[in-house]
Amino acid sequence: MACHDKQPDDLVFFVNGKKVIERQADPEELLLYYLRKELRLSGTKYGCGVGGCGACTVMLSTYDPVAKKIRHHPANSCLLPICSLHGAAVTTVEGVGSIKDRINPIQERLAKCHGSQCGFCTPGMVMSIYALLRSHVKPSMEQIISALDGNLCRCTGYRPIIDSYASFAKEQTCCQLRGTGKCCLDQEELGCSSSAGVRIRSGLCNPAEFLPVDPTQEFIFPPELMRMAQEQQRKTLIFCSKRTTWISPSSLKELLELKAKYPKAPLVVGNTSLGLNKNDCDAYHPIILHPLRIPEMQVVSITDDGIVIGAACCLAQLREILLETIPKLPEEKTKIYQALLQQLRTLAGEQIRSMASLGGHIVSRGSAWDLNPILSAGKSVLNLASDGGKRQIFLNDQFLAGHKHADIEPKEVVVSVLIPYSTKDEFISAFRQADRQKNAFSVVNAGLRVLFRPGTDTIVDLSILYGGIGSTTLSARKSCEKLIGRQWNDQMLSEACKLVLEEISLPPSASGGKVEYRRTLLVSFLFRFYLEVLRGLHQMYPFRYAELSQDKMSALGMLQSGVPQGVQVYQDVDPGQSPQDPVGRPIMHQSGIKHTTGEAIYIDDIRPVDGELSLAVVTSIKAHAKIKSIDISEALQVPGVINVVTAKDVPGKNGNDEEEAFAKDKVICVGQIICAVVAETLTQAKCGAKKVKIVYEDLQPVLTIKDAIKHNSYITKERKLEKGDIEKGFKSADKIIEGELHMGGQEHFYLETNSVLVIPRMEDKEMDVYVSTQHATDVQKLVASALNLQSNKIMCHTKRVGGAFGGKITKPSFFAVIAAVAANKTGRPIRFALERDMDMLITGGRHPFFGKYKVGFMKDGRIMAADFQCYINGGCTKDESELVIEYIVLKVDNAYNIPNLRVRGHACKTNLPSNTAFRGFGFPQAGLFVETCIVAVATKTGLPHEKVREINMYKGVNRTAFKEEFDAENLWKCWKECLVKSDYHSRNAKVEEFNRKNYWKKKGIAIIPMKFSVGFNATYFHQAGALVHIYLDGSVLVTHGGIELGQGIHTKMLQIASRELRIPLSYIHFCETSSTTVPNGKYTAGSVGTEINARAVQDACQILWKRLDPIRRKNPKGKWEDWISEAHKKSISLSATGYFKGYVTNMNWETKKGHAFPYFLYGAACSEVEIDCLTGAHKNIRTDIVMDASFSINPAIDIGQIEGAFIQGVGLYTLEEIYFSPEGEQLTLSPDTYKIPAVCDIPEQFHVYLLPNSCNSIAIYSSKGVGEAGFFLSSSVFFAIRDAVAAARKERGLPLDFTLNSPLTVERIRMACDDIFTKMIPKDKPGTYKPWAIDIS
Ligand SMILES: Cc1cc2nc3c(=O)[nH]c(=O)nc-3n(C[C@H](O)[C@H](O)[C@H](O)COP(=O)(O)OP(=O)(O)OC[C@H]3O[C@@H](n4cnc5c(N)ncnc54)[C@H](O)[C@@H]3O)c2cc1C
Ligand code: FES
Ligand code: FES
Repeated sequence: MACHDKQPDDLVFFVNGKKVIERQADPEELLLYYLRKELRLSGTKYGCGVGGCGACTVMLSTYDPVAKKIRHHPANSCLLPICSLHGAAVTTVEGVGSIKDRINPIQERLAKCHGSQCGFCTPGMVMSIYALLRSHVKPSMEQIISALDGNLCRCTGYRPIIDSYASFAKEQTCCQLRGTGKCCLDQEELGCSSSAGVRIRSGLCNPAEFLPVDPTQEFIFPPELMRMAQEQQRKTLIFCSKRTTWISPSSLKELLELKAKYPKAPLVVGNTSLGLNKNDCDAYHPIILHPLRIPEMQVVSITDDGIVIGAACCLAQLREILLETIPKLPEEKTKIYQALLQQLRTLAGEQIRSMASLGGHIVSRGSAWDLNPILSAGKSVLNLASDGGKRQIFLNDQFLAGHKHADIEPKEVVVSVLIPYSTKDEFISAFRQADRQKNAFSVVNAGLRVLFRPGTDTIVDLSILYGGIGSTTLSARKSCEKLIGRQWNDQMLSEACKLVLEEISLPPSASGGKVEYRRTLLVSFLFRFYLEVLRGLHQMYPFRYAELSQDKMSALGMLQSGVPQGVQVYQDVDPGQSPQDPVGRPIMHQSGIKHTTGEAIYIDDIRPVDGELSLAVVTSIKAHAKIKSIDISEALQVPGVINVVTAKDVPGKNGNDEEEAFAKDKVICVGQIICAVVAETLTQAKCGAKKVKIVYEDLQPVLTIKDAIKHNSYITKERKLEKGDIEKGFKSADKIIEGELHMGGQEHFYLETNSVLVIPRMEDKEMDVYVSTQHATDVQKLVASALNLQSNKIMCHTKRVGGAFGGKITKPSFFAVIAAVAANKTGRPIRFALERDMDMLITGGRHPFFGKYKVGFMKDGRIMAADFQCYINGGCTKDESELVIEYIVLKVDNAYNIPNLRVRGHACKTNLPSNTAFRGFGFPQAGLFVETCIVAVATKTGLPHEKVREINMYKGVNRTAFKEEFDAENLWKCWKECLVKSDYHSRNAKVEEFNRKNYWKKKGIAIIPMKFSVGFNATYFHQAGALVHIYLDGSVLVTHGGIELGQGIHTKMLQIASRELRIPLSYIHFCETSSTTVPNGKYTAGSVGTEINARAVQDACQILWKRLDPIRRKNPKGKWEDWISEAHKKSISLSATGYFKGYVTNMNWETKKGHAFPYFLYGAACSEVEIDCLTGAHKNIRTDIVMDASFSINPAIDIGQIEGAFIQGVGLYTLEEIYFSPEGEQLTLSPDTYKIPAVCDIPEQFHVYLLPNSCNSIAIYSSKGVGEAGFFLSSSVFFAIRDAVAAARKERGLPLDFTLNSPLTVERIRMACDDIFTKMIPKDKPGTYKPWAIDIS
């Protein structure tokens, strides 16, 4: 019944209450693109396209005509085929509320609680909670957190998002401010208290101002769709495009007939498995079957044998069924259900759980799918049907392995699944360990089951299945058979481990790497199961089987983070300050509401312009090679392709002095852009790009720091600083130690990928460039020089950027050049919005680091001398590597006064994508390195770590290694305040006590001081300009050279203009950053973007205020509007430019002296963690931060920056790992493989205190730039984990002077907690095999 047989149906669904009829629905069209491009609803964002980030979340509502029920659920629109929506109602963020009509309390509270920064993730966050609240009016906090499992935010650190949504929860949450015994919900604490003459305030928003929730305001489910659902129950639906036909049959019989006719046709239900392979333009399915309306596949019934669940039920429904059924059954019958529930708690995010079907999960059999091992161990049965009849097969290991005799036939479908009851003498458990606690595929999972002879511990049947090891779930079938008849004791366990390791082998080169870790998990899970069963046996037969010892008990249970809670404390404004003056108050982000309603516009949200073309790039697949030829002929044949653009098409300069925009003769990394294909649509452009043929001649690549040292391959000459007399220092030391630290890089993972829209104007070769950048001037300069034009012809515009973190300083200029050259060649507007994998492939990130240290110290912990060698992997071009290595050398002392110090820094040149600026700019690497040395000294001397830190910290007025004078008073204030606020000493004692009692779980605590230098080491980086216009109605337009990256720069600018012009904030507007209004802006970075532009805005406002002086004096009681009107009559100019020359800084590398940075910022953080020694999982229990932000212009923004940076740092130090193949190809190109922190990763208790009574005479209003500083403080989590690992190692009698490299992933933690299981596994000799990935640091 393909399309030629029948007229296609109209696809009918509703979007935000409006009916959509699509007469030619394309089965390959996904909802996200349809919403954005066809319906012009750009609030729903593209963040990854693979279901991993949640930016595209919408709510789907469907009506079940049989149950007469409406179901609301969240969904990732990037995976949702529009054809699956027939009869459904879609709600997007625009339908939830808008500024035009009415904002929804969900949007309002999120904005008022400062839950958005760049705002790119925000519509997705709104939609996830909206979907939850539509089905649960008063959800629990646990439901709220789990609703956010699938939503990533790179800016906020999640705390304010959770805070805002906590107001919808049925239970009131409390911060339980330990130490004070008080709660943030106490009115007293919410308000002000006085400390040493200053007013201290906590809480950043006022819940009393929240709009009440009014469910009657929400869209009702369209009655038309209810009617349709009833009427069309028995109607087959067909939708067709030129190459694909979508058939949605209405009965099982019809489905089976279709399957018989089209055996190769897939059954698409959630499309979460099939939809991931959509990137190949040649691969498609001519027929797609959609079985969602088949009643038999939606069935749920409780039978004598177990629960039967329809194959089309989604995983969220499975969870609900289990939650409902378990309490009604005797416990012994529910063991498999409990195990499934456990897996479902952490499997994917709520969107995927609501879309993915049980049948799709079982049939697609992904290696790491979590339910299959347990369904198989639990002896589940698949009810199959085909046109030939029905049959049942076991969902056993042979089915999972795809053995023909045990598999489903091509013409069969899975109708339902019988999940049997467990029995009294049966034990079933499920385990999984992923790189991140939630929303991450398992590294290894397992389903284990044992059946005993009744009343004994003699094994009658045993199943052990693992996922994440082979290409599908694997069974240790032979091992199990050998263990039948054995008793459940230690000997059996040893034997079982041995057998399993023999049977389930993982080759050293296995895809995914982590080979030894994965092997260890096999036996670690087995051990945990063994103990769980022992505990169960004891519970059943307490007199026959002994109770587990406390040590063993500690091996049981997974670490689960509780509901996070936060406290934010800051200095209040002076009581005498005018209530209208917004400076110092927690004002909401200027775009906050627009972020939440989806009305904030990013580059790719700009509506298509007439004649616009899309662009896709062709990138190098070689790390180092000559380009022999480029053949574009096939690409030009692809329908819709207009042209292919190469280096030859650049009329002017192809890039800058260091980097080519298009590779010409040679490629120097995988991912380097070689040419670009422009076409009518992005799909066509991508298809064209795939057809370009490039012939390479291989050259030897240099990939790792080790390689670069060997080949003397450096980007710049060595940077060196020396202080004191290093040789003398070492001679005077009691002891000398040497060591190393390797640190991986980091992806920026801004939620908005690099995007540019170039529109050639009709005259004078002018061009508008709309670009997501931190550095519009560089874009303008590079585009102009590429087109051989003067800069005055290129107009750059940036309204806002959806996250940048340093990653959009240099690269966007090259993307803009590529689009501009294409626009120049075709004479048409070009849109170039990178897909996530391309963005990750092409751009570099934070520099991987390798440090070698030699430290001489006294027995009392004083460091006498240190010799540091620091290396960074800069990648293939210079980019910012020279500055980064300079900053590492300048900042490596952190808070420590090392009297005799030598630091040498080297930026290595390799054939990897060029690494670039990233929040903290080298300091996160340098700081971790010096703290590693401190820990090494503390370990050797046996002194507490905090004592060694204190002994070596700068005191009083002091000088850095580059002889800059500073006062360490506030460093000490932060440190001491942090010790007190965190209750460090008593909690440290409790940690020790916990560790004494728990062998398999350990806690750790660490406190870290910080001296952070703000800004740049040259004056010209700090210059800034502004332009302020006052219009005749008194309204004010402020423009400046800074760019909104989410850091609230414009909000602060408006606060400043409001203070300087003494007018309310409502009078002032900011439109966009543009090279036409404020020229030559420096990049917005280095924590100083806001304060330097603030100076320029202040300057312009003061000029205007002064001009108004005579008028004001004449009419002092007059209104602002009167003055403005009078000024105009008097021909006084109401427009002024402001300028800030920049802080005077300089660093002279010849003399090794300088005033390298404008000022220092101090802070301290204490973190406590718990680790699971068996799996390497960890949980962030509590963090206390004390930060010397001086006088904060906007405490909500500053605390948001501190928290956001801290969580980004948690990512760097504990989660985020970039893998490169031995050929130099990046293997981690999506949120599936690269894990940034999610809601589950934030500390359960997160307290931020801004140090009161601090001044900074250098920056405006005595403020400080806090954009980056919070990042390094997350190293306290790294060292807390290290502390926990050390406790484990001490108990196991292992050496304590061990090295832990960064990031401290589950793998590193587990392998450092060396034990009988890590010793048991086979080890592979390096050099004897080709690893899946190489270490580039
Ligand atoms: C971002 C993301 C995160 C994820 N995280 C996890 C995780 O943490 N743990 C985990 O276990 N899984 C995870 N998954 C995988 C998920 O569980 C599976 O993709 C999902 O269960 C597949 O179901 P579906 O309905 O979407 O299948 P579809 O993609 O619609 O179909 C998949 C395949 O199954 C076949 N099929 C479907 N139903 C039937 C049937 N009734 N009879 C015969 N064949 C059928 C189809 O023909 C197709 O070949 C994740 C997926 C994504 C996208
Ligand atoms: S864009 Fe859909 S989940 Fe990321
Ligand atoms: S605010 Fe969440 S990604 Fe920027």
